[in-house]
Amino acid sequence: PVLVVDFGAQYAQLIARRVREAGVYSELVPHTISADEVRAKNPAGIVLSGGPSSVYEEGAPAFDDAIFDLGIPALGICYGFQVMARALGGTVGNTGDREYGATEAQVLGGGGAILAGQPENQNVWMSHGDAVQQAPEGFDVLASTSVTPVAAFGSPERKMYGVQWHPEVKHSEHGQRILENFLHTVAGIPADWNAGNVIAEQIEAIRAQVGNARVISALSGGVDSAVSTALVHEAIGDQLTAVFVDHGLLRKGEREQVERDYVASTGVRLITVDAADIFLGHLAGVTDPEEKRKIIGREFIRAFEKVQLDLVAEAKAEGEPIKFLVQGTLYPDVVESGGGAGTANIKSHHNVGGLPEDLDFELIEPLRALFKDEVRAIGRELGLPEAIVGRQPFPGPGLGIRIVGEVTRERLDILREADAIARAELTAAGLDDSIWQCPVVLLADVRSVGVQGDGRTYGHPIVLRPVSSEDAMTADWTRVPYDVLARISNKITNQVPDVNRVVLDVTSKPPGTIEWE
Ligand code: XMP
Repeated sequence: PVLVVDFGAQYAQLIARRVREAGVYSELVPHTISADEVRAKNPAGIVLSGGPSSVYEEGAPAFDDAIFDLGIPALGICYGFQVMARALGGTVGNTGDREYGATEAQVLGGGGAILAGQPENQNVWMSHGDAVQQAPEGFDVLASTSVTPVAAFGSPERKMYGVQWHPEVKHSEHGQRILENFLHTVAGIPADWNAGNVIAEQIEAIRAQVGNARVISALSGGVDSAVSTALVHEAIGDQLTAVFVDHGLLRKGEREQVERDYVASTGVRLITVDAADIFLGHLAGVTDPEEKRKIIGREFIRAFEKVQLDLVAEAKAEGEPIKFLVQGTLYPDVVESGGGAGTANIKSHHNVGGLPEDLDFELIEPLRALFKDEVRAIGRELGLPEAIVGRQPFPGPGLGIRIVGEVTRERLDILREADAIARAELTAAGLDDSIWQCPVVLLADVRSVGVQGDGRTYGHPIVLRPVSSEDAMTADWTRVPYDVLARISNKITNQVPDVNRVVLDVTSKPPGTIEWE
């Protein structure tokens, strides 16, 4: 693999993704990794990410400089560039000049292997206070800016390069080419990591893990559980049973998508649990968001356990007990919970609101090494319907946390209609790629006066909450064109009973969360 060293800023995951977009498998490692640990992983290259600090600051993220003596090709980025400079005998200092945001860089001396053939002047994305003042001996300076004389350097002999800017962000014009040049030209790594190879590898691994045992999987309708289930099915066929709990809080068409389209494209053996009455019964009279979440999570576990017990009994009767449970855990979840390989036990609460803890299953997590965009690519390769693979994130508690106020069947029907209209219009306007997700929220306890036809109305507002985001940790409200908003508003107020107003949420996260509850 290529190791991406994480110095604690938000850029490391993005770098790891960009490396994979270049067709090279990457793994994130903490900056505390030792030279011995690096050697044991036998990486084909190392990328040092940006970080929040100054290399001379007390408490600055440390790095084992002996890693630079292993003969592994390395690329330093921003803080990683400065770490590299200092470790190899260059100097780093604070000139009092900061560069932040779009900056023009000038390529020098032909640009070396990483900038070769690129425009002499290019826009790059900077974010730093300290700067490299002198490149290490034997390194050529490959770029500068008006403020930073040493903005990139490199040594063909040592196969080490660095840039002060952030090639991984889209604002750096030729950033992806810098990464590709480093990976393919400097480190000589071929571009052969792709969805097809991952599928083949995983199928083999799943078969080896499972043997003849039986496996169950909870489908939520979301991308991760859909793809992990399809992958496991591809590997072991009808040894797998998928369970889909319809809690009555789904959006329009979602159950059909799973029961009809998903099953048609995968051939998965599916059991649907019809639990809407139970969920709505327990949600009656409840308005507190946390309480709603707890009830939905608890009832999900109950519903799931019930089928599970039936399946376990059936399997036992046939002499092949169920030993495994599929989980759609993704790489960012693994990294956030401290990384580490091995089989986790079933404590982790997940997507669908927590799974049973007392039944002793081993987990199958075929997406553990993957980012969301890769999961989508694999889903497409497996032939899953685009409506599922391209689906935007949707919370486990479903529409239950998008009705501010008590959740009732009538209110769910209203919200489902409004949500379906908004989704269809955003898709028709070609905005799916620029919107991370767009919660549609019903303010069920708020009423306002309106006029429709000849009469006065006293109805509820619907809130549109379109957001743009990379990872849902932070988000900005999406500037949806006015004419699209107008169409959504017209259609909702004309077609959905009891709704006489549509409002737009123009709050970023922070301070607002993406969901309203
Ligand atoms: P917030 O509202 O915290 O949401 O900004 C961040 C992201 O998480 C989703 N979300 C959930 N997903 N179970 C989930 O699987 C949940 O209980 C849950 N609550 C929020 C939300 O849609 C957004 O993508």
